[in-house]
Amino acid sequence: MRIAVIGGDGTGPEVVAEGLKVLRAVARKAGFDYSTHDFDLGGERYLAAGGDPTKPSIPVIHEDEIEELRTYDAIYLGAVGHPKIAPGILEKGLLLRLRFELDQYINLRPVKLYPGVETPLKDKSPEDIDFVVVRENTEGIYTGMGGVQYKGTPAEVSTQVNCTTRFGAERAVRYAFELTRRRNSKKKQLTLVHKTNVLTFAGDTWWRAFNEIGQTEYPDIKRDYNHVDACCMWFVKNPEFYDVIVTDNIFGDIITDLAAVIQGGLGVASGGNINPKGVSMYEPMGGSAPKYTGQNVINPMAAIGALAMLLRETGVHQNNPTLTAAGNRVEAAMMKVTPTMASQAAGKMGLSTTQVGDAVIAAL
Ligand code: IPM
Ligand code: MN
Repeated sequence: MRIAVIGGDGTGPEVVAEGLKVLRAVARKAGFDYSTHDFDLGGERYLAAGGDPTKPSIPVIHEDEIEELRTYDAIYLGAVGHPKIAPGILEKGLLLRLRFELDQYINLRPVKLYPGVETPLKDKSPEDIDFVVVRENTEGIYTGMGGVQYKGTPAEVSTQVNCTTRFGAERAVRYAFELTRRRNSKKKQLTLVHKTNVLTFAGDTWWRAFNEIGQTEYPDIKRDYNHVDACCMWFVKNPEFYDVIVTDNIFGDIITDLAAVIQGGLGVASGGNINPKGVSMYEPMGGSAPKYTGQNVINPMAAIGALAMLLRETGVHQNNPTLTAAGNRVEAAMMKVTPTMASQAAGKMGLSTTQVGDAVIAAL
């Protein structure tokens, strides 16, 4: 397995280093070979190359780098974000660019409360918070379609198009049904989240794709539907209700941040940008956290979780049970370490960044 590593900015390289430490240990124990290759990408490089911090001026990633990334089995990403660079430049120039170019059409966000991790939800425990959000990752209002007219005048008008295709909805829905089957939980239930009462065009495309595919191809899976606003309420009130959720790009972006908080915060939440037949990219959800950089206090759990996901999902995509088992093994080790930590918040863990990595390796 060849892994492309993008440590990125701020605390990204520190947390990725812990993930790679765990990878080294689990590969030895599980008996698989791998190699890693570092890619120097992110805000620091953009500035060093003379990029304008106020507006996009030079490419954040070059064409030939994207072509090279296509040849890897997976990408492991730390964090990209720089306090001196205006919002949007790195997001569009790197993260969204890679999602689109590599057609990573699924954003996979497991939401699981690990043992000993504090949730802000009163009376909820690990049995209650264990679901997965499947977010469509290449369409909706993220395509950049739309524009602005008469800018800066009282007549200014802007549109931001919600580009929804039957093709895009179908492949997300199918992925989610397959995942629900694979999880095989007692609930065996897939919930579509949208806003069909207001977004009557895009919502209807999702609704019909969901029900038609469910009815004909997945009769064994229970179908359920929530409006996105109601879903936010249920996340807080009854998270135990969910098994797998499938939703569009922007709704998925929003509900997965809420979900991250109920699972214990950004220190533990991991995500995958997935193309099951291409190159997928795995990342901790927390940002580059510049104020904690270089202090050995940031929580590497989310990055270690992203590594676990990288192994497990690459194993699924490539039909390699050794990798899948290794991913599960890393997650099991994480679940032995979380109860020993004082907190999942940076600087309050009772352990340093590197000690958390060591503890996960010991638990392997
Ligand atoms: C995420 C992030 C990104 C998104 C940003 C950084 C563009 O919030 O991965 O959820 O909106 O998708
Ligand atoms: Mn987000």
